[in-house]
Amino acid sequence: MPLKGELAVFLVTLLVVNTIAESPYRFFEWNVTYGTIWPLGLPQKGILINGQFPGPDIHSVTNDNVIINVFNNLDEDFLISWNGIQNRRNSFEDGVWGTTCPIPPGKNFTYILQVKDQIGSFYYFPSTAFHKASGGFGGFRILSRPGIPVPFDEPAGDFTVLIGDWYKSNHTYLKSILDRNHKLPFVDALHINGIGPQGPNRTSFTVDQGKTYRLRISNVGLEHSLNFRIEGHKMKLVEVEGTHTMQETYSSLDVHVGQSYSVLITADQTPKDYYIVVSNRFSSILLTTTGVLHYSNSNQEFTGPPPGGPTIEIGWSLTQARSIR
Ligand SMILES: *[C@@H]1O[C@H](CO)[C@@H](O)[C@H](O)[C@H]1NC(C)=O
Ligand SMILES: *[C@@H]1O[C@H](CO)[C@@H](O)[C@H](O)[C@H]1NC(C)=O
Ligand SMILES: *[C@@H]1O[C@H](CO)[C@@H](O)[C@H](O)[C@H]1NC(C)=O
Ligand SMILES: *[C@@H]1O[C@H](CO)[C@@H](O)[C@H](O)[C@H]1NC(C)=O
Repeated sequence: MPLKGELAVFLVTLLVVNTIAESPYRFFEWNVTYGTIWPLGLPQKGILINGQFPGPDIHSVTNDNVIINVFNNLDEDFLISWNGIQNRRNSFEDGVWGTTCPIPPGKNFTYILQVKDQIGSFYYFPSTAFHKASGGFGGFRILSRPGIPVPFDEPAGDFTVLIGDWYKSNHTYLKSILDRNHKLPFVDALHINGIGPQGPNRTSFTVDQGKTYRLRISNVGLEHSLNFRIEGHKMKLVEVEGTHTMQETYSSLDVHVGQSYSVLITADQTPKDYYIVVSNRFSSILLTTTGVLHYSNSNQEFTGPPPGGPTIEIGWSLTQARSIR
């Protein structure tokens, strides 16, 4: 029975190969420290990861084993949460107090995550001690495996856009207000990738005319729903927290705290600088901050004021949310 024997050998080989062919590993080593940041043009004590504020992006592919060795060099416990990421094996390492222990000062802990088939945009943030008010957040991408179709063409560029509200006060002071059961004061400003309206330089994204880009927008803030818009450019919504969408087009998008969206924008306007605008929603006090969509073939700066957006209208937001759902 030579054929049967060969078949058996073949099947056994297949089994062995399948067991050995593990998904790829990606290793990260993070050093969490305090450092001076200038989101509002004034020095503040921020939480840095490898010297960066916001922290570095994690890029991964479905099924990857993401191994992150985090060294806590703060003077207090520190815990990171992977917002929206479903861990295939270690769901208890989600970085939420109660399931994962915070890392004591001077110690390190290695998060072992295996990302699932939730291709899209997420972010991480510190989940205890109100550290989030001082930084420690960053983008987290899960890309499709090669050969898995994505329902849009590969964009010419892919930008992480972390937006949020911000206080001039440090997290220790803010936490002490909350611990006394008091309400926090109104936030001082909004930021785009850690730069607010009085920041030294606006956050800027450079695009080539005629090309299409992906923006991964997350609201990493504390309290406020934010509206995101780009002067003169429509946004095609292609992904919401790991799910591809119907690809509706929007002039502006409400992004609530904790949400992440991917949009495609095409640089199809007259070459110049266009405002990227973030403003808060549902409040009589209106805060706005701006970034720049810069056409690479132009030196022309902004013309006129940034475009306005929805402010207190709730129905508008609900209608939009329904169109996305
Ligand atoms: C982390 O950064 C601090 C300050 O720069 C440095 O003293 C320390 O050695 C670094 N630790 C690691 C593990 O890289
Ligand atoms: C701490 O870091 C060291 C050096 O990289 C590593 O060998 C060790 O496993 C880490 N400890 C934990 C608990 O992750
Ligand atoms: C935090 O802010 C409070 C109030 O402004 C201040 O008294 C305190 O020294 C600050 N703490 C740190 C560590 O910067
Ligand atoms: C701001 O932009 C200028 C000009 O591009 C540059 O020289 C400077 O280093 C930037 N400052 C910061 C804080 O990034």
